[in-house]
Amino acid sequence: MATTYAFDDYTPKAKAKSRGYWYWWNNYSRAKLGFPSVFIFCCLFFIAGFLCSSLRSQEVSGFKQSGRQLEETLNYDVMAHGKTGDDSMSVIPFQVISWKPRAFYFPRFATPEQCQHVINLAKSKLEPSKLALRKGEVEKPQDVRTSMGTFLRASQDGAGILNAIEEKIAKATKLPRSHYEDFNVLRYQLGQKYDAHLDAFPPEQYGPQKSQRVATFLVYLSDVEEGGETAFPYENGMNMDGSYDFKKCVGLKVKPRMGDGFLFYSLYPNNTIDQLSLHQSCPVIKGPKWVVTKWIRDQEFSL
Ligand SMILES: *[C@@H]1O[C@H](CO)[C@@H](O)[C@H](O)[C@H]1NC(C)=O
Repeated sequence: MATTYAFDDYTPKAKAKSRGYWYWWNNYSRAKLGFPSVFIFCCLFFIAGFLCSSLRSQEVSGFKQSGRQLEETLNYDVMAHGKTGDDSMSVIPFQVISWKPRAFYFPRFATPEQCQHVINLAKSKLEPSKLALRKGEVEKPQDVRTSMGTFLRASQDGAGILNAIEEKIAKATKLPRSHYEDFNVLRYQLGQKYDAHLDAFPPEQYGPQKSQRVATFLVYLSDVEEGGETAFPYENGMNMDGSYDFKKCVGLKVKPRMGDGFLFYSLYPNNTIDQLSLHQSCPVIKGPKWVVTKWIRDQEFSL
């Protein structure tokens, strides 16, 4: 049974730390020195070595593994897996941006080529982005969400790039693809934005829902020179006293960078809506901004 190690664009770099040390030692040992100084020298080395190794083990318990340790971790005989499992080992690095709301950042989630491919697929299909209607609403105000966008499903991409991105999102979120909405590719040009909103649908405003949005996974498809951040005005309970202007871009801001992924949860583990997941797309000052959104539901998704 062949094992494939899917490093998922992450290449561990072994650190050649020891080279300098040997050079120094060789030079030193050529010099003629008496026994006491050699003894003291050895003691110092012993202490230094001890300190280094204890530092190293702290790193391991904190999961800050070096490339070599990472490879050792992956050097297992793979487990027997179920019908829907496979033999691959995945390494998808991420940073915790916040626990309130739960938000996680995935550097270099997609390659620049993949990003350009998705932009090309969407380019000719863009239409003004829409908003879900609240109870009693017939039409939405036009100035809340000013981007252009289009929906794409993985099977619409013959090159398989959307499929690969969706598969990687599934590995990163551990949430099954059957719960995913289609990709929504968005383009924001100068001054375009999306005012603060929840991705979930509070039933008080939208009526009873067949299913709810659990999480959102964004892949930024372009760098944005200025503006266009994804901002969370209520991060850690800030700005919740009613004084905050919804049109202003405040709070925790995530700067779009081409290929980077960003995940946040709209629901708590108990399935109620997390108000801190309120977020906005700040106006683009120097752009454009391209992003692809994947909304993940608490029920299997079908149109
Ligand atoms: C759900 O979880 C949140 C966060 O832990 C908590 O504040 C809220 O009271 C819970 N709601 C219910 C109905 O259990």
